[in-house]
Amino acid sequence: IQDSPFLLIDKAMAKQLLQPRKPFSHKGDYGHAALIAGSYGMMGAAVLCARACLRSGVGKLTCHVPAVGYNILQTAVPEAMCKTGPVNDPGHAVQEMDKYDTIGIGPGLGAHASNIKLLYSIFEQNRRPMVIDADGLNAIAQEKGLLNKIPLGSILTPHPKEFERLFGKTANDYDRIQLALQTATDNDLYIVLKGRYTFIASPDGKGYFNSSGNPGMASGGTGDVLTGIITGLLAQKYSPLHAAIMGVYLHGCAGDLAAAYASQPSLIASDLVDFLGQAYQSL
Ligand code: APR
Ligand code: MG
Repeated sequence: IQDSPFLLIDKAMAKQLLQPRKPFSHKGDYGHAALIAGSYGMMGAAVLCARACLRSGVGKLTCHVPAVGYNILQTAVPEAMCKTGPVNDPGHAVQEMDKYDTIGIGPGLGAHASNIKLLYSIFEQNRRPMVIDADGLNAIAQEKGLLNKIPLGSILTPHPKEFERLFGKTANDYDRIQLALQTATDNDLYIVLKGRYTFIASPDGKGYFNSSGNPGMASGGTGDVLTGIITGLLAQKYSPLHAAIMGVYLHGCAGDLAAAYASQPSLIASDLVDFLGQAYQSL
């Protein structure tokens, strides 16, 4: 269908986008990412997101977590640096956020009222495209004034419920896709609508359906892994569109490899991190 605005993300497309590592490169060439994630009882989300970000190939990673998560993060992810807010405060340290190549925010953040202030502060400090997920998106749904403060070209990764909270109910999947495209165009954002066939709405009006992945991935924490991967790819200077395409494809591919190695029912989010290397290798 020649004039269709819809494209399929498959192995050939991902292979074409892959940026090989250069022999004489160093970690500075692969970017410094920051993740703002985690809260009491949800540090696993931060750990999964951080490990996925590292496996995506990022040069350096700093995790901004609440003080309660310091030991957890430093122990579970020794490759990452860690910054925290004050002891006994559920908040995250967010000074000097302009020094990173990109930022990912949301996994396991928790539904704190202070998230709204947190997002205003980050959007003020950082104007480069970033990734927003989970409770980061829920904060924007609560405070609509945040929507036009998001850095242009940023990537939003809602599941259908988060999408509905942000942009309202739609009668069916087709209408939701149209609304995602309209919103992406109006706000100059990429919207990654997650599901069986994850849909990427691009601000140029094009839409991309991902072909990889399986229902074994319907399991807690798999979305946090996706946020880490896309943030890592952005830090490595993939364009936002290419980071989103490559991210959803590799994420689904890791899921397919993990399910083939064991099974769909037994698949857990950590498996996606463990199979990310083989997903790269398959390209
Ligand atoms: N087929 C293929 N892929 C699937 C399927 C399926 N049937 N089901 C889920 N997935 C993929 C989605 O495409 C997405 O990439 O798994 C991922 C699920 O992501 P989320 O819905 O964000 O789930 P999760 O990681 O558990 O979210 C953690 O954050 O978003 C909040 O409310 C959410 O509290 C939860 C937390
Ligand atoms: Mg999620």
